[in-house]
Amino acid sequence: MVPGFLSPSLSRLGLWASGLILILGFLKLISLLLRRQKLARAMENFPGPPTHWLFGHALEIQQTGSLDKVVSWAHQFPYAHPLWFGQFIGFLNIYEPDYAKAVYSRGDPKAADVYDFFLQWIGKGLLVLEGPKWFQHRKLLTPGFHYDVLKPYVAVFAESTSDMLDKWEEKAREDKSFDIFSDVGHMALDSLMKCTFGKGDSGLGQRDNSYYLAVSDLTMLMQQRMESFQYHNDFIYWLTPHGRRFLRACQVAHDHTDQVIRERKAALQDEKEQRKIQNRRHLDFLDILLGARDGDGIKLSDADLRAEVDTFMFEGHDTTTSGISWFLYCMARYPEHQQRCRDEAREILGDRDSFQWDDLSKMTYLTMCIKESMRLYPPVPQVYRQLSKPVTFVDGRSLPAGSLVSLHIYALHRNSAAWPDPEVFDPLRFSPENASGRHPFAFMPFSAGPRNCIGQQFAMVELKVAIALILLRFQVTADPTRPHLFSSHIILKPKNGLYLNLKKLPEW
Ligand code: HEM
Ligand SMILES: *[C@@H]1O[C@H](CO)[C@@H](O)[C@H](O)[C@H]1NC(C)=O
Repeated sequence: MVPGFLSPSLSRLGLWASGLILILGFLKLISLLLRRQKLARAMENFPGPPTHWLFGHALEIQQTGSLDKVVSWAHQFPYAHPLWFGQFIGFLNIYEPDYAKAVYSRGDPKAADVYDFFLQWIGKGLLVLEGPKWFQHRKLLTPGFHYDVLKPYVAVFAESTSDMLDKWEEKAREDKSFDIFSDVGHMALDSLMKCTFGKGDSGLGQRDNSYYLAVSDLTMLMQQRMESFQYHNDFIYWLTPHGRRFLRACQVAHDHTDQVIRERKAALQDEKEQRKIQNRRHLDFLDILLGARDGDGIKLSDADLRAEVDTFMFEGHDTTTSGISWFLYCMARYPEHQQRCRDEAREILGDRDSFQWDDLSKMTYLTMCIKESMRLYPPVPQVYRQLSKPVTFVDGRSLPAGSLVSLHIYALHRNSAAWPDPEVFDPLRFSPENASGRHPFAFMPFSAGPRNCIGQQFAMVELKVAIALILLRFQVTADPTRPHLFSSHIILKPKNGLYLNLKKLPEW
């Protein structure tokens, strides 16, 4: 009970507060409307598909098959078209090599409207950072991906893959197709934890499994948030059931990464362990982060450290999982290419039982098939920028500073001007002769320019080793009763699992 003499002043306070909230809400609306007007005016010269008065293009984008919807828009609107997530976030969606080059050869910042949704989860790590701090971290971490560091990873990838293949032998006995996606995911996470984070041989534990599941929740929720304007505001989002689920999944992810950091820090306290690290010729990713000092000898802050661990933990396994899985899907559909890859791998291996670093460069046909599969199924289908200065495109149309740009890698890779018969799987597109005349920005699975993928070589090594070993042990065929559906959850994933038939091959 409020004593009577207080209530008039309290109710006056309530009145003031609601008035203030109303005014703030009104000001926010005005600023959103002004921004919308600015973004829309900037794209005046770019016709596009009709927009819903409230949702923009979000309804089309949320449906299954949305990637192919964009491909059909790309046929209708050459080079680029506006793409609205609700009324206040509008991108120029581009899918043409010269357009891609105009923006991605420069170092424009990531579009905060999208990448800020990552912050609660992976913080300001390399993927989201900008400016001098991004440059400093990129310079710091690049040696962690030097090929001398990658060489010993060949054996690690082989070991994680073999563990998965042993499991698959069991499953294949049942003569039924099964979902390969989550097995590949666990294998990729296991590889990453061993290579980048120095985990021992123990295999994945309960915490790692929870982490794996949390990531699939987080990517799904993030994509949903991008496409739902009601969820764009942080304050509102955290109050919704989806927002709370996002926070819970973040907690699981952070528990996992904190544990990884804690264990390494504890190991560093141990002198013997420290000497072992000093004797190692090349430092791994965590050594580099923990040993980093700036010009004044100051260490990375705990928040920076955690952000980088969270960033690499995510980017380092979800992407390669997608790459390996869609590759196997292609091999199932095109058995003749599968056989050629297998023959090549057998020939390279000869009577040895494990691949070595030098073998990888000999896998020429396999490499062409990997590229062709990443063309049709790019693991990261879309990336976003905000222009820091104006840009003028080849056809004379231009965008002012501040505009938002979305590079639709999936549609770019199916642009028929750059790729004749784009739907046809043809690895020979990537033979040296055929690739030499191609526009350098026609194929961008790892993006391009200064903000390209730092893990590109790591990924290619992992893909080659894992795929060669899979094809040596199994014949892969499609299951026509389980057609594939995409869901673009930041990463290109199968909607209801990726079901393939696996048949164990006789030892050759
Ligand atoms: C097939 C596998 C992979 C694909 C297709 C891929 C693709 C990409 C793409 C398209 C970007 C640009 C993202 C953007 O502009 O927002 C990127 C950035 C990045 N990738 Fe990858 N990636 C792969 C594997 C990896 C691996 C294995 C790692 C780490 C071990 C990694 C770490 C990163 C990081 C840290 C960035 C941000 C780099 C920066 O902005 O400086 N990626 N990747
Ligand atoms: C180039 O591509 C075409 C069409 O895919 C193919 O027929 C031809 O053999 C390729 N050339 C080389 C040298 O790989």
